[in-house]
Amino acid sequence: MGRILMRGALAAALLALSSGPAFAGSPAQGAKVFASQCSACHGNRANSPQAVGPRLFGVVGRHAGTSPGYVYSPAMKGSGLVWTTDQLKVYLKSPAKVVHGTKMPYSGLNNPAQLEDLLAYLATLH
Ligand code: HEC
Repeated sequence: MGRILMRGALAAALLALSSGPAFAGSPAQGAKVFASQCSACHGNRANSPQAVGPRLFGVVGRHAGTSPGYVYSPAMKGSGLVWTTDQLKVYLKSPAKVVHGTKMPYSGLNNPAQLEDLLAYLATLH
């Protein structure tokens, strides 16, 4: 009886934690997704060097193709996109479909939960 009550309380607490207002995803889980899917090419700190890809510190809210010192493809530079979380979501599912001619060699993140977690994590990079 006591155990069942405790489980109920735990489930309610977890639900409260996971249903924040802005994002459904977990930044902590998203950090793991970033480490396994993105960090080979992208830095995540304000002072990360530009690498195979541009550093992604502060990416949420910035205009595509504008990280200083990184040489973008003409496609990315001219895309006119702004990296809102909604735009990032669409892009990261299938980069080459959204920015035709991008040089980002990544086929896309198809796991919806991982994508939500990753977006929640990217939003913490500022
Ligand atoms: C194999 C290398 C590689 C991987 C893996 C990779 N990227 Fe990229 N990414 C790039 C390159 C190269 C560019 C520059 C694209 C261009 O100029 O067309 C880029 C560009 C971007 C941009 C545009 C940034 C800007 O300043 O406009 C975003 C956002 C981005 N990547 C996010 C991600 C995320 C998130 C992941 C992980 C899910 C990821 N990338 C995985 C290489 C990679």
